[in-house]
Amino acid sequence: MSATAAAVSSLVLVLLSFFLLPALCFSQPDAIPPLLKLKKSLNNGDSKLKNWIPNSSPCRRKWVGVMCDDETIIGLHLTNLGLSGSIDVQALSQLHRLRTIRLVNNAFTGPIPEFNKLRGLKAIYLSNNQFTGEIPDKYFGSMGKLKKVWLNENKFTGNIPSSLMQLPHLVELHLEGNQFSGKILELKYPDVLKSLDLKGNQLEGNIPESMSKFNVSTFEGNDRLCGEQLKKPCAHPPLSDKQTPLSTPTIIITYVTFFVVFFFVIINIASTIEEKDHDLRKVSNSRETFRNAHIVSGSTRKSSSNNLSLKTKRGSSHKGNKNKMDMI
Ligand SMILES: *[C@@H]1O[C@H](CO)[C@@H](O)[C@H](O)[C@H]1NC(C)=O
Repeated sequence: MSATAAAVSSLVLVLLSFFLLPALCFSQPDAIPPLLKLKKSLNNGDSKLKNWIPNSSPCRRKWVGVMCDDETIIGLHLTNLGLSGSIDVQALSQLHRLRTIRLVNNAFTGPIPEFNKLRGLKAIYLSNNQFTGEIPDKYFGSMGKLKKVWLNENKFTGNIPSSLMQLPHLVELHLEGNQFSGKILELKYPDVLKSLDLKGNQLEGNIPESMSKFNVSTFEGNDRLCGEQLKKPCAHPPLSDKQTPLSTPTIIITYVTFFVVFFFVIINIASTIEEKDHDLRKVSNSRETFRNAHIVSGSTRKSSSNNLSLKTKRGSSHKGNKNKMDMI
């Protein structure tokens, strides 16, 4: 009897596990703790992510913003929810098949979170938030699978990270409406990129050769940027560029500047010479006056005629002082 009971109970166990195992495999229970941690890290998670609750399947129960491929979480699309707080990226790194993070139109602030720990990401959308500060130059170095990067309408500053321009699969890059500054670097894989927007930043210098296929609407609103697309030739083309002839205004300005400088130099030299001449004359005049005074004191008509003849030799450049002395 006990043998039969044992057989039955083991059969039940086998049957149970037969039905339960798939459920355990596909409901991805591992995904629940990370998502609940993420919820906790958000300021208003409780009110905005109401159906994110323990003991419920994120995919089957269609948790708000959780995108699944069958039973696997592949994306988080948390848009227009007024979310803020410091995102627990460490928790997200446990979602091994997460490919897309979309946090568009929320209220996130501060520096860009360390999404670069999520090496499998293919798309990241952070548009329309209040993210600030510089993005480290090497930030995207660990995100070689990225295809779409949308950071537009935030408050990012500093240079566009060089690692971003070196992503091999980058198809869409939107950085418009930030405060990115400095020069735009060349794209390492220009043929891959299909959509680019850098409008309304503080970028400067010339538009790189690798971005020549994009038109004015990609670049406008950067006052110190120059290039063909903006109909604003660069003043100092890079040495590698073909030498373009100087424009007429440039030539005119150069000539005018040259002549103005030349004129002032001549004036300056002339006045220096005159001054020296003047000083010399002053010295000789005073000597002469001294001698004349002696002669005058001798009270002869001859002396005064001498004096006159000297005066005529000297021409019209009299000195008031000397005249006075002559009167004596
Ligand atoms: C720029 O190119 C885009 C498509 O790439 C086009 O929709 C837009 O009209 C163009 N703008 C101008 C001003 O040519």
